[in-house]
Amino acid sequence: MDRLNEKTGIDSIDKHHERLFGLKMMLEKIETEKDTNEALKMMLYKISFSAENYFQDEELLLKTHKYHNLGNHKKHHNWLLDEIRQIQNQYINGATDTIDTLKKLMDTWFEQHLSNYDKEALEFLQKHLQKS
Ligand SMILES: [Fe+2]
Repeated sequence: MDRLNEKTGIDSIDKHHERLFGLKMMLEKIETEKDTNEALKMMLYKISFSAENYFQDEELLLKTHKYHNLGNHKKHHNWLLDEIRQIQNQYINGATDTIDTLKKLMDTWFEQHLSNYDKEALEFLQKHLQKS
């Protein structure tokens, strides 16, 4: 979670982190919204849209700099996107635990992806960008 507040010095990544942090905050207080269902529908849309955008930008940046572990990194992105899609489908089909499932997925995203995959990739990018 803390990593989202740290600036990476890479503008596009910092923007995505900021957006993600905002979404996480919105999700935390979604149950206090007047129309929770409507807010949740919007939230699901925003999360999938933001994740797709974020991952595309990051993958392009990593590809440009010939990041050695891009294959595995992409696999984990695709896994996260699949999970989001599944949660969306379950919600459409009447699931009542969507908020909790989504919170758990966001935690996994932050704990597994940001703290491992992204940490390594960002350190690689930062070194590369310093050189150029
Ligand atoms: Fe990533």
